[in-house]
Amino acid sequence: MEKTKVGIVGMGTVGTGVARLLLDHGDRTARHAGRTLWLEHVIVRDVAKPRDVDLPAGLLSNDLDRLLADQQVTLVAQLVGGIEPARTIMLRLLESGKDVVTANKALLAEHGPELFDRARELGRSISFEASVAGGIPIVANISQCFGANQITSIRGILNGTSNFIITKMDQGLGDYTSALKDAQRLGFAEADPTMDVDGTDVAQKLAILSHLAFGVRQHWSEIPRRGIDSVSKLDVDYARQLGYRIKLIAYSEFTGDGLQMFVSPTLVRVGTPLAEVRDNFNAISVVGDAVGRVFYHGQGAGQMPTASAVVADMIDTAVGRARITFQTLKLWSKQESTIAMADPRKLRSGYYLRFQLIDKPGALGQVCTILGNHNISVSDVIQHKADLVDDQNIVPVVVMTHPTTEAQTAAAVEELNRLAIVHPATERLKVLD
Ligand code: NDP
Ligand code: HSE
Repeated sequence: MEKTKVGIVGMGTVGTGVARLLLDHGDRTARHAGRTLWLEHVIVRDVAKPRDVDLPAGLLSNDLDRLLADQQVTLVAQLVGGIEPARTIMLRLLESGKDVVTANKALLAEHGPELFDRARELGRSISFEASVAGGIPIVANISQCFGANQITSIRGILNGTSNFIITKMDQGLGDYTSALKDAQRLGFAEADPTMDVDGTDVAQKLAILSHLAFGVRQHWSEIPRRGIDSVSKLDVDYARQLGYRIKLIAYSEFTGDGLQMFVSPTLVRVGTPLAEVRDNFNAISVVGDAVGRVFYHGQGAGQMPTASAVVADMIDTAVGRARITFQTLKLWSKQESTIAMADPRKLRSGYYLRFQLIDKPGALGQVCTILGNHNISVSDVIQHKADLVDDQNIVPVVVMTHPTTEAQTAAAVEELNRLAIVHPATERLKVLD
């Protein structure tokens, strides 16, 4: 059988999974590719580090130049995270005549236009299925299988680490810190987990999906975003009592005003598909005007689910399909999208508001009056048990609103926070219904 000689740069969590699939399941990949994917080089930073996979002698090195110079290797999985040296390695791989497969969404969200232009100039391809939602084949689906549709909505849970943490908090199986440590130990988190929990990783993935679906070139940093790092256990519990779960939602949707995008902890009603996504799982709901709603669910982080997506891209590249898709889609080409971005302040949704009120007669009345003055209609009010804080009785009061705009709730909460009866730390979360 013919061989395609391949390399891997970076053999941490994902690279190790890729090496395992190539070495232990070569028969499967050969059946799908019609040729053997022959692992010829594995490049890491530190060759002395213990590895969790038995590599044939001579494969492992820290000599990238040796891989670049090997003209027989035409396909490389680039699995180094972050921006640099990942960007330079990617450019050097392309320039030395190799097609590249990557899982690095941070790099693509930051330097996609440069890297894709360069690959096109050089006649090479970049495949990146694993960069969004790990093992869920969402990149191929959105960019190819929805070809007959105008996609109108993408809503999803796109970070396994955050979903793992918030699931454990909701189930009472750990606090934020212990759950984050478990996510790191299990290989879901990034080398620096800040981007997992502060919404950056999700904004990067949403920027990639929105480019594929809508052609927009919205930089991830311009997407309004908040992560789960500021969500308290108190709100997770209050939301559950109201029949909701808090999930880190990525949202990209056509409204009358244009495309609305945000990343935010959001209340999702228990029993709806997104609310039932647990642990490191991700899910994406996509609506196309011809097909209707399609729902994807699977492991969005972790060694083997992510490696599954990387190796599928390697097969596609070895067969020659990846290059055709890459050249046809013209991703991140200079062509501008005609789709307008909507004003995020006009986005309408229900809101969960939690006020810490000083327990005084008329306090709740003042809150409702100010909400009313801002034209915000209340659907539910729940007063929780008071607690003694700084010698004052503080009562958490949760107000659920009917749909209103981001601008109206922001203005109302700002005014309420100035009242003497409102103790600091008002919480304001969207509700997805
Ligand atoms: P790790 O931190 O576990 O592994 C990174 C690897 O890159 C290590 O093997 C490291 O070498 C190697 N490396 C770093 N710098 C260099 C260098 N200059 N030259 C050669 N090798 C280098 O990361 P992950 O495997 O978790 O993630 C890899 C990519 O996949 C990231 O972009 C991540 O965002 C993405 N991803 C990760 C998922 C996951 O579940 N973990 C899921 C989806 C995407 P050494 O081992 O010697 O230190
Ligand atoms: N750190 C990422 C996550 C890996 O937790 O989802 C998958 O991109």
